[in-house]
Amino acid sequence: MRRKLVVGNWKMHGSRPANAELLSALMAARPFALDVAVCVPAIYIHETAATLAGSDLRWGAQDVSQHAQGAYTGEISAAMLAEAGCRYAIVGHSERRAYHGETDQVVADKAQAALAKGVTPIVCVGETLAQRDAGETEAVVKRQLSVVIHQLAHCASEIVVAYEPVWAIGTGRTATPEQAQAVHAVLRAQLQAATGHGERMKILYGGSVKADNAATLFVQPDIDGGLIGGASLKAADFIAICRA
Ligand code: PGA
Repeated sequence: MRRKLVVGNWKMHGSRPANAELLSALMAARPFALDVAVCVPAIYIHETAATLAGSDLRWGAQDVSQHAQGAYTGEISAAMLAEAGCRYAIVGHSERRAYHGETDQVVADKAQAALAKGVTPIVCVGETLAQRDAGETEAVVKRQLSVVIHQLAHCASEIVVAYEPVWAIGTGRTATPEQAQAVHAVLRAQLQAATGHGERMKILYGGSVKADNAATLFVQPDIDGGLIGGASLKAADFIAICRA
């Protein structure tokens, strides 16, 4: 039985007072019957760590450099994330792919850099609306994931995968549970074939998950939890999702 995981992706939101309020509400709502983490803007990681340390809540980053160290102005290495106690780093989010030109290979390199320092990469895959309409969903997500699997080889079973259809992110347009389940089943079969451990790997769904649709998504056999954007910024909503 795979333990469910819900991860908040705060994106570029927050402030010290708002974060303190949100995190203290999360702390007060424990314990949850699943694993819960928040991926916060890098500048808030240390403060988040200080607040959540000693609890069963985990924290992480929204990106990581593919490089170990060096002259990469503005970048943050996996070793730095590990030093700050990060359990997770999101890699290959569609916003990074779209606005920062991250290719499948860069995403794979980032996943590898994270794993090398003991930070679990949450590898995001997902198709655009045009790709879905063209019937390319399966081919797109399998290609995105295959580059990561190939790069990581025997370590590939250590990642978390997040299926995030681009057309569902921040749009209020969630994939139906059936649509999401269908893609998750494809991804799990791919992971199983490549690693032999697909049955124990977590595949999260992300894209307009809210308190009122989380339960019907999470009950699907291959959906192991969610990557939550907008709804992770409001304590009541995020807590409701964690209890869904
Ligand atoms: P959303 O974002 O929940 O606001 O749609 C999800 C994500 O981008 O991870």
